[in-house]
Amino acid sequence: MKSFRKDFPIYVSNPDLVYLDSTATTLKPKTVIDSLVDYYSNYSANVFRGIYRISEQATEAYESAREKVAEFIKAKRSEEIIFTRNTTESLNLVAYALGRKIVSEGDEVVVSILEHHSNFVPWQSLAFETGADFKVVETDKFGTLPNDWSSIVTKKTKIVALTFVSNVIGIPNPLKKIIKQIRALNPETVVVVDSAQAMLTSKIDVSDLDCDFLAFSGHKMFGPTGVGVLYGKYKLLEESYPFLYGGEMILSVSVAKTLFQDPPFKFEAGTPAIAEVIALGTAIDYINSVTVEQISEYVSDLSGYCYKSLKQEFGECISILGPQSAKSRKGIFAFKFFDFHPHDIAGILNSYNIAVRAGHHCAMPLHNHLGYPATVRASLQIYNTKEDVDKFIFALKQVKKKLS
Ligand SMILES: Cc1ncc(COP(=O)(O)O)c(C=O)c1O
Repeated sequence: MKSFRKDFPIYVSNPDLVYLDSTATTLKPKTVIDSLVDYYSNYSANVFRGIYRISEQATEAYESAREKVAEFIKAKRSEEIIFTRNTTESLNLVAYALGRKIVSEGDEVVVSILEHHSNFVPWQSLAFETGADFKVVETDKFGTLPNDWSSIVTKKTKIVALTFVSNVIGIPNPLKKIIKQIRALNPETVVVVDSAQAMLTSKIDVSDLDCDFLAFSGHKMFGPTGVGVLYGKYKLLEESYPFLYGGEMILSVSVAKTLFQDPPFKFEAGTPAIAEVIALGTAIDYINSVTVEQISEYVSDLSGYCYKSLKQEFGECISILGPQSAKSRKGIFAFKFFDFHPHDIAGILNSYNIAVRAGHHCAMPLHNHLGYPATVRASLQIYNTKEDVDKFIFALKQVKKKLS
C-alpha cells in the first residue's frame, strides 16, 4: 500500500502525528503551500483591475483556476464556477440569491436528515422566512436515504438540497438515481448538492449527475482555507439575484441605477481570495496527478482495514454509525465507544498524538435521529497508513483501560 505522506510537509515538523481529522480539513501538499508563497512572493497584485504585468499575471492565474475547477467537475462552461469562501457560503448564496426569488408561501423546501448544518439551516431559514413548508427526509437506522421519492417530491417542491457524502456516515448517497426521480416527479425542482465530502471519493461530473448547483470547499480537497466553489447551471445563475453588492460585480453605477455583471462576476463582489483560488487550482493539479480513482481506492482499502480492526478488537463495544460493513466506506468513522464521553476519548487519544473530532460534527439532527448525542469521529486520507490505524487501535485500548 503506497502512502502519499511524503507530499505533505506537516509530517516533517510533526513526524509522530496521527492525523485522523481530514473530514474537518485535509492536510496540504507542498505544491499547494508553494503556490501560496509563489503568489505572495512574486505577483501579489489584485485581479482584474491593473493594466500592469503582475496584475495581469494574477488575473491569468485566477481565471486559469476557474478553468481547472470547471474541467474537474465537467461543467459545460467556466462561467458556471463561482468562487466563494467555503461550502457554507456557496449554499447560503443559493438560498439567498435564488431561494428568495423562487420560494413563496405554501411551497416546499426539502432536505435530508443527513445534512451538515450548512445544508440544513439556510433552507430551514428560507422556509421560515417565506412561509414555505420545510420537509426533512429521514433515513433508516443506518443513515440510508429512501429509494422511492414519489411521496416526497410534489408539484410544490421548489428546492431539494442533499449531501453527496455525509460527514458522519461517510458513504456516498445514490444521488444520480435520486435526481433522476426528482426530475421525473417535478422538472421545475431545483436540486442543490452539498459535495463538501465527495470531491475525493469519486469523479464528479455535474452534467451526468444533472444537479442544478454543487457546493464544495477547497480546504477539504488538499487546497487552502478561505476558498469554496459554487457550480450553478448558467441559466439559473442568470436568473438569480446578486448575493453581495459592491465592487467588481457591477457593469455601471449611477445615482439612478446600477447594472450588474453576468455570472460568475455578478456573484464575486470585492477582492476575492486570490492566492487561495490559485492554490485551489494547484490542489486540483495534485489530485489529477494522483487521480481521484487512486485516492478513492487507497482510502477505501485503508477504511476496510480500519473497520475490520475496530470490530475485531472491540466487537459490540464500538458502534460505528452507518451501514455495518467495511465496504464502500470513504474514510469516515463516527462512533460510540462503550459509554465513554466522546470528549474524554478524544482527550486521551490526543495524549497519544492522535487527532480526532468529538461532538455532533455540525450534524445535530442526524445524531438525534440515530440516537447518539455525540460521537468521536476519525477520518482517513491518503497520507494515513496502516501504521496510523494500528496506533489508533492501540490508543483506544488505553482509553478502554483508563476509562473502564
Ligand atoms: C458535508 C459537509 N457540508 C458542509 C460543510 C461545511 O464546509 P465549510 O465549513 O468548509 O463551509 C462540511 C464541513 O465539514 C461538511 O462536511
